[in-house]
Amino acid sequence: MKALILSGGYGTRLRPLTYSQQKQLIPVANKPVLFYAIEDVIEIGVKEIGIILGPNKEQVIETVNSKNWNVDIEFIYQGEPKGLAHAILVAEEFLDDDEFVMYLGDNILKDGITNHAQKFKELNPDSLILLTYVDDPQRFGVAELDSEGKVKRLVEKPKEFISNYALVGIYFFKPIIIEACKSIKPSWRNELEITDAIQWLIENGYRVEASIVKGWWKDTGKPEDILEANRLILDDIESKNEGIINNSTITGRVIIESGSTIENSVIKGPCIIGRDTKIVNSYIGPYTSIGSNCLIEEMEIEDSVIMDECVLTNAGRIIESLIGKNVKIQKCISKPRGYRIVVGDYSNIEMR
Ligand code: DAU
Repeated sequence: MKALILSGGYGTRLRPLTYSQQKQLIPVANKPVLFYAIEDVIEIGVKEIGIILGPNKEQVIETVNSKNWNVDIEFIYQGEPKGLAHAILVAEEFLDDDEFVMYLGDNILKDGITNHAQKFKELNPDSLILLTYVDDPQRFGVAELDSEGKVKRLVEKPKEFISNYALVGIYFFKPIIIEACKSIKPSWRNELEITDAIQWLIENGYRVEASIVKGWWKDTGKPEDILEANRLILDDIESKNEGIINNSTITGRVIIESGSTIENSVIKGPCIIGRDTKIVNSYIGPYTSIGSNCLIEEMEIEDSVIMDECVLTNAGRIIESLIGKNVKIQKCISKPRGYRIVVGDYSNIEMR
């Protein structure tokens, strides 16, 4: 079995971060979201992975290649993000005549995909889709099931209520899906929708089975989703300390990576502090991920994701925040008083 992981698209709901960073590279517990997908497909024994690229393609290639995965990885440039079914067509040559798992690179699943891969093997359908119960089905592709749990109909982002079973962004396919993708027309949002291609399979007599996801699942499309995914991943970490701790209190499960220093500070887990970061006279509270090469001084930070190379000094208390790479937030005492800010388009600042 091959894997096709999607790392294209514009990630508009995560602006301004996605002006400079491909959304699948945003870190959750200091690891790019995309890496969770790569690890999951490697875990089920996949040896050939195709990664779909869009804007910022060099960034994705560089980040993926920064690690030795011990599998073949082929990068496939999609250009314009014209839909999930379009991504399959762009990858036709790579997919050849093999069955494959398609994994949306912004999805994170607690328990991996081993059980679902097993189910695909045992039931041997033309497609196995992963579903989960959600309270807000209008945000997702949705599946209508019959009384026996068989998939009857799929609708992308339904305006009217159909069911609470959302399509998780992980799909197993036989090669017939390529014919399905070629047979459908673009949707109202001008995309070739994977839901329409799977619906085509159903209507043309092919077998589509569903597998229900029991543990948590996150589509990291919006800032609050990244923060929630960060909490969920940090909930499962084990403590590890490779840094230097001076005159500080560390409680709960905390990972401190090599080269980091904690001085006169209080760290309350679960949280993770990346490499070569310095925390001085500060409080770092639960559910916080701080990237590498940061300086945090005279701060209180809780329930937040702070990416690499940030300098946060003397700027009060930061909560439930997502802060991109290389950001500086510091208190200045010079007059006149007032906030002096340089903020990118679509930024979101709440002053409480
Ligand atoms: O996350 C689950 C949902 O993902 C499903 O419930 C929906 O049925 C499915 O259509 C999809 O909906 P989204 O609106 O979340 O899709 P999005 O446009 O965010 O794209 C999903 C991922 O695929 C994202 O990592 C970007 C990437 N992508 C997207 C498009 C449209 C590509 O690589 N190429 C594309 O052309």
